Amino acid sequence: MTYDAIVLGGGAAGLFCAAQAGRLGRRVALIEHSDRPGRKILISGGGRANFTNLRVEPRNFLSANPHFAKSALARFTPQHFLDLMRAHRIPYHEKTLGQLFCDRSAQDLLTLLLTECSAGKVELHASTKITAVTRDTRFRVETSRGTMEATTLVVATGGLSIPKTGASGFGYDLARQFGLTIEKPYPALVPLTFDKADQARWGELSGVSTGVVATHGKQHFCERMLYTHRGLSGPAILQISSYWKPGSPLNLDLLPGTDFSTTAPHEARKQLSLKLPQRLAERWLEVEGFTQPVPSVKKIDTRLHHWSLVPAGTEGFDKAEVTGGGVSTAELSSQTMEARQVPGLFFIGEVVDVTGWLGGYNFQWAWASAYAAAQAITGSM
Ligand code: FDA
Repeated sequence: MTYDAIVLGGGAAGLFCAAQAGRLGRRVALIEHSDRPGRKILISGGGRANFTNLRVEPRNFLSANPHFAKSALARFTPQHFLDLMRAHRIPYHEKTLGQLFCDRSAQDLLTLLLTECSAGKVELHASTKITAVTRDTRFRVETSRGTMEATTLVVATGGLSIPKTGASGFGYDLARQFGLTIEKPYPALVPLTFDKADQARWGELSGVSTGVVATHGKQHFCERMLYTHRGLSGPAILQISSYWKPGSPLNLDLLPGTDFSTTAPHEARKQLSLKLPQRLAERWLEVEGFTQPVPSVKKIDTRLHHWSLVPAGTEGFDKAEVTGGGVSTAELSSQTMEARQVPGLFFIGEVVDVTGWLGGYNFQWAWASAYAAAQAITGSM
């Protein structure tokens, strides 16, 4: 079969790009290797899909080239996606920090994308394995259901996070096959683990959560942190994990905005239990060796504002919400997502070295990069 465009991967980016190109009159096939598209969408945002953020800025994205995402993000904004949500009458709400979620369920978002694909007459091929991709005058995709050809190939196969949702390194392999470089993929938005000593110190706090400022280098996040059986999680940790480099320390301020140094020493224990969750306060005083009356509230103040922790590692791709790194942005046009050296070959979404913060930014990147590619494919830009 011959198409104008073949899209590889039926996640957020692939579905949106296929729908847009189809809506603009192109004959589009989408190939998904798992039994149904959009599986990750259904588990996103705790089942309600944090589908965008009201305040999207380039600083919310990590990339070897921090300027790369600007153009696509400026041309397809959260408001554009909201227009679509309204057109499909999908109710949504802002939870916090500009994060927009579906009121009912992430299924609404997937239904929107599938409805748009139907309207664009996109041929959806699920449970279809890709066995080879070659190119002469056209791209030829060999699959478990036969050969497909197109002048344009869009790679939207995502990253390595959560293999059970269909994640694979296919997009990176394909990029390498065409001679493109890859920024080394790494787990991002991921819980961090303790080494043995910290595990013994803090492991029993599993389930305790507290507000912190988590800092690495110049980047900091003021959000909740959660102690787990194996380490730390919660929004503050997931956010800072994307910036963390193995072996380096994180600074955690456990008492943000609080001056504990003026507390009366005989009150210290009681006051700390009021400012921190009680289990954390007690464990912390015990670990630090502070007995009653405490020797120095100044020391407590300093230690709590500057907990320097070197995580042993991360929970890896099995638990990472996204994959950092990916197809190097130096290889792609920031206007169209097309590979500079391979006309007709596009990379969109998470497979590209653009990684958003927690809070709807990764879906916004999926929409914006998909839109940029669809416009280019259809000659609409
Ligand atoms: P995505 O990974 O979604 O899709 C890739 C598709 O390609 C998959 O369907 C896969 O099966 C398919 N594929 C892979 N290899 C293939 C092959 N060889 N052949 C054919 N098909 C292949 N972001 C956000 O903004 N808000 C949120 O609320 C959340 N929540 C969230 C929760 C959880 C648990 C996770 C794991 C992730 C999130 N995210 C998120 C991140 C967000 O889901 C992610 O960034 C986007 O889904 C990326 O979209 P893509 O389409 O690029 O990849």
